[in-house]
Amino acid sequence: MQEIFDKANAVLAAINDAKPSNAEELEQFRIQYLGSKNVLKDLFSAMAQLPGERKKEYGQLMNTLKAAAEAKYEEQKAAADTGAKSSTEIPDLTAPGYPVAMGTRHPISIVKNKMIEIFSRIGFTVAEGPEVEDDWHNFTALGTPKDHPARDMQDTFYLSEDKEWMLRTHTSSVQVRMMENQKPPLRMIMPGRVYRNETISARAHCTFHQVEGLYIDENVSFADLKQTMFYFAQEMFGRDTQIRFRPSFFPFTEPSAEIDISCFICGGSGCPVCKQSGWVEIGGCGMVDPVVLENCKIDAVRYSGFAFGMGIERITMLKYQINDLRLFFENDVRLLKQFEGAL
Ligand code: DAH
Repeated sequence: MQEIFDKANAVLAAINDAKPSNAEELEQFRIQYLGSKNVLKDLFSAMAQLPGERKKEYGQLMNTLKAAAEAKYEEQKAAADTGAKSSTEIPDLTAPGYPVAMGTRHPISIVKNKMIEIFSRIGFTVAEGPEVEDDWHNFTALGTPKDHPARDMQDTFYLSEDKEWMLRTHTSSVQVRMMENQKPPLRMIMPGRVYRNETISARAHCTFHQVEGLYIDENVSFADLKQTMFYFAQEMFGRDTQIRFRPSFFPFTEPSAEIDISCFICGGSGCPVCKQSGWVEIGGCGMVDPVVLENCKIDAVRYSGFAFGMGIERITMLKYQINDLRLFFENDVRLLKQFEGAL
């Protein structure tokens, strides 16, 4: 009887002393103590030879043995796992780095930055305004009261039932903010995103970008506007570029004009880009209406000024001959990669 107990205790001691340090030894341990033909099974069957009163004691010893074997196995396995991991996962700090794929600037950003650069050379600073606008800044102060038919010119994303709040439909709203908050002389461009409720197509999108320009001082004339636009067109599209002004209408300028540049693809002789006309439109402009100046508390007798607005997408499409506006919003790297190092 004592022999049976001694044997079991010897196995317990062996389990406690065991240190299976590699995968092979661990597997040996598992087969020996936990496998389908493990040594504990023989010890269990020896229980039958014991008298009833010692059976309970022996049963407890068997449970201890089993628990010890399982605990040892789990403990050694966990140690082996973390050991294996740490040897592969601690990075080799001397290894050369993975090449990090560099992004490229979006063509809209490239052209926006170029426009900022061109205008800053002739003293225009950069300002920005909010994309969520109120009625006053987007429409009313710009000579477009609620009942004005010119409001139909832009399909607006209104944000409130009373049409008091909206996503700005143009960056002209920033002009108003600047004139309200600063004293002339003002000479700034205001780039930003605008929103219009339009069906998305190759030529139109519900969101796009504009650069607004504003110059307010004493004695600012239409000649200053013309020369500023001429300078911009030549810097942006090349020295041979010509410009022309077509009479137009905007509620916030008087007189108003549309600006065309000579087609820099065909030089004016006619091609698909200019639809055989020799000219392409790049934006709208005009002399700031005195009513707008007064709305912004600027003395319209003393001061005058010009303003202009150009679509960045439009300029980019012309410059790089991109024929689908939607490409700008897909962020397909194959398109973006073509602008690596542009401008
Ligand atoms: N806000 C006009 C538009 O979105 C563009 C524009 C035209 C801006 C004439 C101006 C301007 O500042 O003088 O179509």
